[in-house]
Order: sequence, then C-alpha cells, then structure tokens
Amino acid sequence: MINRLLSFLDSSPVNFLAVKNISDMLVAGGFRQLDPCQPLGAVKAGDRFFVTKNDSSVFAFRIGRKPMAEAGFHMICAHSDSPTFRIKPNAEMLCEGGIVKLNTEVYGGPIMSTWFDRPLTLAGRVIVRGKDVMHPSTMLLHIKRPLLQISNLAIHFNRQVNDGVKLSRQKDVLPILGQITSQLEAGNLLMGLIVEELNKQRPVKAEDILDFDLYLADTAPACTFGAHNEFISSGRLDDLSMCFAGLEAMLAADTADTTQVLAIFDNEETGSQTKQGAGSPFLSYMLKRIALAQSNTEEAYYQAVERAFMISADNAHAWHPNYAEKYDPTNHPMLGGGPVIKFNAAQKYASDAVSASVFAGLCAKAGVPCQRFVNHSDVAGGSTLGNILASSIPLRGVDMGNAILAMHSCRETGSVRDHEYCVKVFTSFYKEC
Ligand code: CO
Repeated sequence: MINRLLSFLDSSPVNFLAVKNISDMLVAGGFRQLDPCQPLGAVKAGDRFFVTKNDSSVFAFRIGRKPMAEAGFHMICAHSDSPTFRIKPNAEMLCEGGIVKLNTEVYGGPIMSTWFDRPLTLAGRVIVRGKDVMHPSTMLLHIKRPLLQISNLAIHFNRQVNDGVKLSRQKDVLPILGQITSQLEAGNLLMGLIVEELNKQRPVKAEDILDFDLYLADTAPACTFGAHNEFISSGRLDDLSMCFAGLEAMLAADTADTTQVLAIFDNEETGSQTKQGAGSPFLSYMLKRIALAQSNTEEAYYQAVERAFMISADNAHAWHPNYAEKYDPTNHPMLGGGPVIKFNAAQKYASDAVSASVFAGLCAKAGVPCQRFVNHSDVAGGSTLGNILASSIPLRGVDMGNAILAMHSCRETGSVRDHEYCVKVFTSFYKEC
C-alpha cells in the first residue's frame, strides 16, 4: 500500500500532475469524466463520475442507492497544491560568465532554506496555440531530471549562517538553470528546454507556446526510512498523502445508500479564494446539479446538505522530539498514532464535539486509533479547508489529518502506519450508510 503512495508522490510534483494522476486512476476505476459545460443528464444509483476545474482541482462522485435528499452525502476533501516557487514571466536572468538563473516568486509558505542545495526540476502546465484565440490548449510538463539548483552562500562568506539567516524571497532563492554556450542561447534557454520536453509528447514549435504555469519541484524520489522503515520522507505529504488516502478509499468503496464525494481543491496554500479553491461555489453547483437531476427541486439540495458529513483531510503537526516546548502540554499527536482530529477555539478548524465524536466513532469502528490536536496557546497555528468550505456549504464536518513533521519543508516526515490507518477509516466512512 505504501509503495502506491510513494509512486503517486513521485509522479505528482505539482497540483496539475496530481490532478491528472487522480483522474487517470478514477478512469481506471470505472469513473467517467464529465464536461461541466454539458447538461448533467440523468443520474442513477451506482453512477461514478468526476469533473475537473482549471486542471488543478478534481471532484469525484459515486451516486448512492438513496437520493441525496434522503441519505445526504459523505464527502472527503483535501488539497492538491503545496508550497513551492513559481517561475515568473521573462524569468531568465543572464549573469556573468553566461550563467543563467531564473526569476521566481514564492507560492504558499515553504520553509525556504530546505529548497537549497538539492537538485530541482520544473513541472506544471504549458499553454500552446489551439484552434482559435479563445481556445488555447494545455500540455502538462514534468522534466524528469535534475535541472536546477538553489545554491547556498559558502559559510566562509557568512560565519553566522548557523545562527539563523534571514532570506530574501527575491534575492536568495533564485535557482541556477545553466550556462549558455553561445549568444544564440541567451534568453532562450528555458524555452528551448520546454520545447524539447513537449516534443516528447507531440510536435510543438516555440512560437506556438503562449504561456505557462511552471513551478520548482524536488527531483529526489519519496522513500521510507527508519529502523523498521516506519517513516515516509517526501515533499508534498501536505496534502497529497490525504488526497491519495481519499482516492484509495473512493476506489475501494462500493455503492452504498449514501452518495460518496471526493473533493480535491487547489490553492489551499494561498487562501482558497479562486474558482478552483475551497472558497469557490463550484462544488456546491455540482452537488446542486446532482440533487436537481435526482429530484427536480432545489429543496433536495438543501436537504442533502443538512444530512451530509464532511471529513476535511489536511495534515496535522506530529510531536517533534527536538521541540517538545512548542506543543500543547496535553494534546500532541505522535507519528504512527493514527488520524488526528484538529480543534481550534477560534474556529479555524471545522471540528466540534459533535463532528469529532462522529469521526472518533468511525475510527473505533474501523479498528483505527485516533488522536487530538490543539495548538499550544501561545502559537498561532494554521488554517485549512473545512471552515472555508463551510462558509459556502454549511456542512457538518470534522477537520483532521495525519500527523507529520516539518510541514512545508521540501521534505516532510510522515508515518507508514498512519497512511494505512487513514485509508482504512476513509474507506469505512464511504461504506457507512
Ligand atoms: Co495542507
């Protein structure tokens, strides 16, 4: 089971690739891709379908035996994006000696120092000329070799480097792309690489490339480590490990009375306020279209929402053996201790005593341990999908996630056992009527 997660992580360096891989696995599992531009048509028990938005979010549905108005829906949501660096337009910066570096901007909140001195590459989507100006076409790109590096300054120039370093997002984190060998390459190095890579898929000329959304990605594969291989080392565990656990559960579940929903949103790391993010009404439109197809009345949708339950799955913070003082004295989840329910008095998390009881009950039924997380009261902490989604769809639900170390590092640490627990409880949640 863990190898499936590791290979998903390796083939999903950014949101676009993650959504493509999830879509492919849904198709292999018998799900039909629907075009949201077309009428939804009739919907019957056992139907499996999915839609994508912006190539970076994906929503899968398995229609229950009972209409949603009667049995509600069981939804797991997670996010496809992770902190990284976005390549700016006109990114090439030609330096002395023909060295070319790339101009980037920060996406989300990475621990920037963890991106230094490791082989990086480019991944994302490239927009190429289509049938007319309003309809360009999209090609995905993942250059599978070490291509770039953000190099540190030698300690000899900065003797205080181990006492903490302030990093500039404009100066310190620009990766080196290469060294030009002739003036002809000046300004064309990046485009040449993109064209070469796209031509492995189909013939594309440089003049047909209109724009791109490209990001930096780690080239080192995900792996397990530890005396018993009990830990996972990978980028993007937050939140691709939760996306994948949800997908495994969706594929393993069968038709139940209740409709099953898997919602993978983009842009959680930048606040979710995009058309493909959790702040968008897109998912509620889809649910409303399903309810209308079943019952021909908007009333059905509102009933479905009232009967629904959401698991908002986003990783939590595991107790760190070097920094015990940062954690709440009585609630600090351990790696390998099972899924974590997240609470926050200021309601940054959707969990309350009712939804937590439901989730803890699901864990108990699945034979899975479960833990609770609350911030140390002097530490601000983060937020996630659940409460943002609840403001557009007033769902009963819980915020949870598996505990990891070094959240937002280029390499996070997770637990093999927790992944297995999570798939188990998600699968039984979908099967639960
Ligand atoms: Co997250």
